[in-house]
Amino acid sequence: MRKKLVAGNWKMNGSLAKNQVLLDSVKQGLASAPCDVAVFPPFPYLLPAFESLRGTRVAIGAQTLSEYPEGAYTGEVSAGMLKELGCVYVLVGHSERRSLFGESDSTVAAKFVAALSAGLLPVLCFGETLAERNAGVALDVVKRQVLAVLERCGGVWPEQALLAYEPVWAIGTGLTATPLQAQEVHAFARSLLVSGVAERDAGVRILYGGSVKPQNAAELFAQPDIDGGLIGGASLQAEDFLGICRAAV
Ligand code: 13P
Repeated sequence: MRKKLVAGNWKMNGSLAKNQVLLDSVKQGLASAPCDVAVFPPFPYLLPAFESLRGTRVAIGAQTLSEYPEGAYTGEVSAGMLKELGCVYVLVGHSERRSLFGESDSTVAAKFVAALSAGLLPVLCFGETLAERNAGVALDVVKRQVLAVLERCGGVWPEQALLAYEPVWAIGTGLTATPLQAQEVHAFARSLLVSGVAERDAGVRILYGGSVKPQNAAELFAQPDIDGGLIGGASLQAEDFLGICRAAV
């Protein structure tokens, strides 16, 4: 049985003061959350978030990382730096990174491997655009994105690395994949991982992201291959975020 994870991707939002208020409220409501909980603040807010969450069970992750370990890469942040701070997770290949910052499947795979080699747990984000879904190629896109990483890992999905299905058309739009649409893709993605160690693949957590709200979370999380959520907008409101956490049984 996979324990669910609800993770808040703050994207480029927040301020020192706002984050403090948000995290104080999240901490207060945490006892009612049956799932694992994580937050992904922007880089400058990682350290204050660690201070604020010290002694709680909320894990912290970063939203992206460099594919390079160190050196003359102005503006980049390495996996080792994130690990040193205490990050557990790092997002890799979020659709906003792919579409706005030109990250290719190959770059995403390099970042995934960089995260692993520093001891971080990468969360591989994947998902199709609306045009791709309408053209009937959603599963082809998913396959391409997942296999690009799987192949870089020698065909064996690393234990404990995560995936997050985020249909691009559902991100920040208020449109959500129906539970059955999401389940279909999650089951398909899991089938791609099969590497001969079926029990291990069955243990891999695949999160859903895209306009998850307290109102639709329970139905999504009830699907057999949906192991929690990657939450954007709703993670910026403590009550909404906690409401989603409470639905992740
Ligand atoms: P929203 O929950 O705002 O749709 O964002 C989803 C997302 O991109 C999380 O990474």
